[in-house]
Amino acid sequence: MVPKGKFVRPAEPNELVPENYFAQIRVEDFFTSEAPLEIDLGCGDGKFTLEMAEHHPDRNFLAVERLLGRVRKVCRGADKRGLENLRVLRLETLYTLEWLLPENSVDRLHLLCPDPWPKAKHHRRRLFQKPFLDAVVRVLKPGGELLFKTDHDEYFEWSEEHLTDYQGLERLDWPDDAFFYPKTDFQIQWEAEGKKLQGLRARKPL
Ligand SMILES: C[S@@+](CC[C@H](N)C(=O)[O-])C[C@H]1O[C@@H](n2cnc3c(N)ncnc32)[C@H](O)[C@@H]1O
Repeated sequence: MVPKGKFVRPAEPNELVPENYFAQIRVEDFFTSEAPLEIDLGCGDGKFTLEMAEHHPDRNFLAVERLLGRVRKVCRGADKRGLENLRVLRLETLYTLEWLLPENSVDRLHLLCPDPWPKAKHHRRRLFQKPFLDAVVRVLKPGGELLFKTDHDEYFEWSEEHLTDYQGLERLDWPDDAFFYPKTDFQIQWEAEGKKLQGLRARKPL
């Protein structure tokens, strides 16, 4: 017989493991102090989130990622830097926004270089469409922002169209020098290959 609990994976340092994945969490319970909350959706190896958390000790950051190896890497990075304001959640992005997080709880959402699903038959898998935008509006505080970047021109146009057609978010300008915004791992890789990233910035109305 297998001893009870044998296959439960121990949490990594800085990992946010909800006690119950079917109930909303109070995100502030997982941080040492209450502060504005920013979320990096699909954080990859975490360069962006780690730099943001270091740069903004007065804000809390939640990195969401579905791949365990990447979650572990970001957790180790946060631990090494002694970051009390960064937690990592191993979960699916849309589920997190639709079910786990409370309404009106997030100040900024970052969606950086998500999978573009270039083939037409896979477009329905793209995140940037109505169910995602509904979930974004659900979790953002009034005045909260969604920041999105992609290197994929056609996905950028698709996302721009979906944002324009969507009633619940106002588009904002996003000049390069608007605020501190470190490059992500994928951005560095793609810029080295000569690809240019395009961004969208939108706000939930006050
Ligand atoms: C192309 S990478 C970009 C990583 C990072 N944002 C960057 O720009 O360097 C996309 C990341 O999102 C993660 N991902 C893809 N779909 C996801 C989902 N539905 N939920 C959570 N993470 C997801 C992937 O595992 C991967 O690490």
